[in-house]
Amino acid sequence: MEKVSLGPRPYMTPMPTVIVGATIGGKPNFMTVAWAGVACMNPPMVAIAINKMRYTEKGILENKSFSVNIPAAKNAVEVDYCGIVSGNKADKSKVFKTFYGKLKTAPLIDDFPVNIECEVRHTLDLGSHNLHVGEVIDVHVAKECMTGGVPDTKKIDPLVFSGSDYCHIGKVISKAFSVGKGFKK
Ligand SMILES: Cc1cc2nc3c(=O)[nH]c(=O)nc-3n(C[C@H](O)[C@H](O)[C@H](O)COP(=O)(O)O)c2cc1C
Repeated sequence: MEKVSLGPRPYMTPMPTVIVGATIGGKPNFMTVAWAGVACMNPPMVAIAINKMRYTEKGILENKSFSVNIPAAKNAVEVDYCGIVSGNKADKSKVFKTFYGKLKTAPLIDDFPVNIECEVRHTLDLGSHNLHVGEVIDVHVAKECMTGGVPDTKKIDPLVFSGSDYCHIGKVISKAFSVGKGFKK
């Protein structure tokens, strides 16, 4: 394949789209985050890259906790709103119906199929962004999105962020940890 150099930039595609929740001055705030992923299995950890200018950042630093809420594709309008409007300018505390699990400073979004409660274990100052590594304290999944005791991605129908578009996840093409067994040199 002939390649084109893009220069140094944090290019990655596709990305998830989640809503990070935090409490600032006793009030919940929510922001859209695409730079998020799993960081460790044992203990279970996830990582989020948050620009230091974000209002949400204040709450993460204040309480050392945050939530990661996985939306369904049908939630795209609220998701995008939380990514274009700052809590510095508008009150986003009432955008979603919220509930709390074990952590009283990690607001969880009732209408989203998956909610993850996290306690900050590490904050890496990387420059424009802080990388917060949070230990997962609990995961809440909508009963209707479970199949055989495990979360069902098809039922969750998560939002995928690709280029500047929100997309559905594509169709299954093969089995992971299995299809590679057919590799021949
Ligand atoms: C699709 C999408 C993905 C985004 N991903 C991130 C991200 O990973 N990290 C970040 O700091 N900001 C990200 N943003 C920008 C913030 O969500 C946006 O600045 C938001 O208004 C911040 O809200 P706050 O100031 O209330 O915290 C994203 C925005 C959109 C629309």
